Amino acid sequence: MFTTNRLLLCPYTDADLNDLMRLWNDPLVQRLATTDELGPRGPRFKNTIRNHMDRAMFSAIIRLKETNEFMGQMTVHVLEQKNRDGTYGICLLPKFWSYGFGTEATQYIVDYSFRWLGLQRMSLTVFANNDRAIAVYQKAGFVMEGRKRACVWANNRWEDTLFMGVLRDEWIVRLSILQQ
Ligand SMILES: CC(C)(COP(=O)(O)OP(=O)(O)OC[C@H]1O[C@@H](n2cnc3c(N)ncnc32)[C@H](O)[C@@H]1OP(=O)(O)O)[C@@H](O)C(=O)NCCC(=O)NCCS
Repeated sequence: MFTTNRLLLCPYTDADLNDLMRLWNDPLVQRLATTDELGPRGPRFKNTIRNHMDRAMFSAIIRLKETNEFMGQMTVHVLEQKNRDGTYGICLLPKFWSYGFGTEATQYIVDYSFRWLGLQRMSLTVFANNDRAIAVYQKAGFVMEGRKRACVWANNRWEDTLFMGVLRDEWIVRLSILQQ
């Protein structure tokens, strides 16, 4: 079992689909994690979820170690094997936000991806107004790499998205500082 201090990172099974539907049907989660139209997702969306989880190089259902309660999911997708660039995504149910769980999971997966998956870099896209997520990514070593302006319609205005990334060499430097 893959674990951190407070989290279980469990393999995805179809038994998780109802919990994942609950996650992706949460309006607060959708607003922060979806560039697509927002709205209720029906049973056909289960195929999208299944494909998303199955195609990941690393995917996990995140559960609270103490109670085994479903919290959310995390994935690393590698689109081009040759380039070893992992796209990271994480989503937690709102009741688990702001307790440090996202930081714990993200720091774990950055370390794991370089140490065990042999990635050269990790990448992600985040809405420019998602301060909580940006803070988590920065704490795990991601830096800002670019900004796509006014590309997402959200809450009666155009929002920017940010591209963030962390390189294997940067992780090695952080590791040596942490070990000093
Ligand atoms: C993004 C997400 C994974 C972060 O996980 P989390 O457990 O809520 O975050 P943490 O508690 O580990 O850290 C939050 C950090 O953001 C900071 N922060 C910045 N702006 C904040 C805000 N508006 N509200 C709360 N915290 C904020 C906090 O201070 C904290 O940093 P600190 O521990 O150094 O003080 C989680 O909130 C989530 O799933 N959100 C919805 C989906 C989403 O946005 N996914 C990412 C899409 S790119």
